[in-house]
Amino acid sequence: MKRIALVSGANQGMGKHVAKELVSDGITVYVGTRDLARGAKAAAEIGGGATALQLDVTDEVSITSAAQRIHEEAGQLDLLVNNAAISTTRTDVRDMAELRELSTASRAPIDEVRAVWEVNVFGPLAVYQVMLPLLRNSSDARIVNVTSAVGSLTTIADPAFPYHSAFEPIYAASKAALNAVTLAMLVEGRWRDAAVGRNPGVGATRRGSEGTLRDHNCVLGGRHHGRRPGCGGRRDLFLLAPGAVLRMRTPTAVRIS
Ligand SMILES: NC(=O)c1ccc[n+]([C@@H]2O[C@H](COP(=O)([O-])OP(=O)(O)OC[C@H]3O[C@@H](n4cnc5c(N)ncnc54)[C@H](OP(=O)(O)O)[C@@H]3O)[C@@H](O)[C@H]2O)c1
Repeated sequence: MKRIALVSGANQGMGKHVAKELVSDGITVYVGTRDLARGAKAAAEIGGGATALQLDVTDEVSITSAAQRIHEEAGQLDLLVNNAAISTTRTDVRDMAELRELSTASRAPIDEVRAVWEVNVFGPLAVYQVMLPLLRNSSDARIVNVTSAVGSLTTIADPAFPYHSAFEPIYAASKAALNAVTLAMLVEGRWRDAAVGRNPGVGATRRGSEGTLRDHNCVLGGRHHGRRPGCGGRRDLFLLAPGAVLRMRTPTAVRIS
């Protein structure tokens, strides 16, 4: 049976890259996109097996409609990749240095913290809750919450870590919160397996700087990419930071009360 995946924020950047990888593995992929026209363009570039699906992770109606469409067309979801995220809503900053200065704990505007957390933390949780019945319909459901090395409290607390001084309450703390939410999913869902992927790596995307997408496959861990060097196989839940892959024990056994 064809496996079905949903990748949020897949009209560009890493999400699009992941969608492409999944399609090349024979998986049918819903390309989550805020703007349907841009998503349709991305899906066409990705190729057969990719379909644009309107999805704004901050919009309850949009999430529900997306789930309804997947239900009608596929009846189940085998892989949910919560990839969509933002690092800022500001348009008035010149560069990263200025953004960092304005993002410290003492200066971060609370509205800005809320706006970023809305997408990066509450969004994945809301999508998870609405998609859960579809995931339960799969015999081997998996969830990937794309996080970041800066979200690992263990890693970032080390003064020797290169991004130690960059930890701030907007983006970085949102990824730490996402890791906590991921752990909550793990605890409640009684997952059979929780693999810890590596950092997506620094990608040449809108919100990332120049770099390589090489490590990004590792985020998917598990079955499709687990044999690549350095990927998959890790069970260290303390390092839930970069890209945890959660796999359900038996979907029907997941109880949400
Ligand atoms: N790039 C890196 O170096 C790096 C490093 C570590 C972790 N990550 C993580 O990797 C993931 C992808 O990052 P990226 O660099 O590929 O980012 P990106 O190029 O900025 O793409 C982000 C995607 O999220 C979408 N999005 C934003 N707000 C949304 C919302 N409310 N609802 C649905 N979709 C929304 C964007 O849609 P629009 O096009 O409509 O804005 C876009 O498709 C993120 O979770 C990021 O935190 C990236």
